[in-house]
Amino acid sequence: MGSELFNQSGATVEDFFDNVSELYDQSIEKAIPPYREMFQAILGYCFLDAARPLSILELGCGTGNLSLYIQELFPQAELTLVDLSADMLEVASQKLKGDRSRITLLNQGFMALEFPPQSFDLIVSSMALHHLTDQEKPALYTRLFQWLKPNGLFRCGDETLALPTQAQERNLTQWESWSRQSGATNEDITMWSEHAEKYDHYAPLASHFEWLKQAGFTDVDCYWRKLMWTVFGARKAA
Ligand SMILES: C[S@@+](CC[C@H](N)C(=O)[O-])C[C@H]1O[C@@H](n2cnc3c(N)ncnc32)[C@H](O)[C@@H]1O
Repeated sequence: MGSELFNQSGATVEDFFDNVSELYDQSIEKAIPPYREMFQAILGYCFLDAARPLSILELGCGTGNLSLYIQELFPQAELTLVDLSADMLEVASQKLKGDRSRITLLNQGFMALEFPPQSFDLIVSSMALHHLTDQEKPALYTRLFQWLKPNGLFRCGDETLALPTQAQERNLTQWESWSRQSGATNEDITMWSEHAEKYDHYAPLASHFEWLKQAGFTDVDCYWRKLMWTVFGARKAA
């Protein structure tokens, strides 16, 4: 998987993920060495009763790696999984376990989603919301707030922008050496760097906190951070 594939991968983020869907899992754990640790932080700070039939929305499920972990930790949950890329969703669909009647797959963009108010106990996302612009992110947070039930939680693992600029540059340098140690090749590094330049919009953690508070959330906090990878979240008060 490398820059050659990336060059064929089209003009939109949807094309990109459609074209890399079969190879995504091979590359992502090399590109993000603490990928699984990040998942543990996303779900490890929810403190929800796993015996309840929780209603959980995952935004940008990709190939379903976090979705499978949700199924493991919350086996009674009703899952709604959203992704813009039909091909990434198809890979997820093949991996998912359990009762299919409790899983809804939606091939939609985040900004086009519609749910009734108070639909979900938990909304999660991993490495997906940075594809929205900094105008779209606060607009989405306002809608997530509406879709959550009272006491509902939002948990997000994503890349955030370190401040000042030197800290971001240092994180990028350290990312490259850490991912090489994890087996990433020149092609992996080039592909993900070019992808980031073309499609990613990183915001500082402080901006996410501000947007979440403006949307009405409480208990806004950061639970884990390694280089640019950050797990943060918030609660809708009862
Ligand atoms: C880097 S992948 C992360 C996938 C998965 N969550 C993981 O942790 O491996 C980003 C995913 O977000 C999806 N995505 C990006 N922008 C989106 C949007 N505006 N609406 C819905 N899905 C989007 C992509 O199609 C892709 O599957």
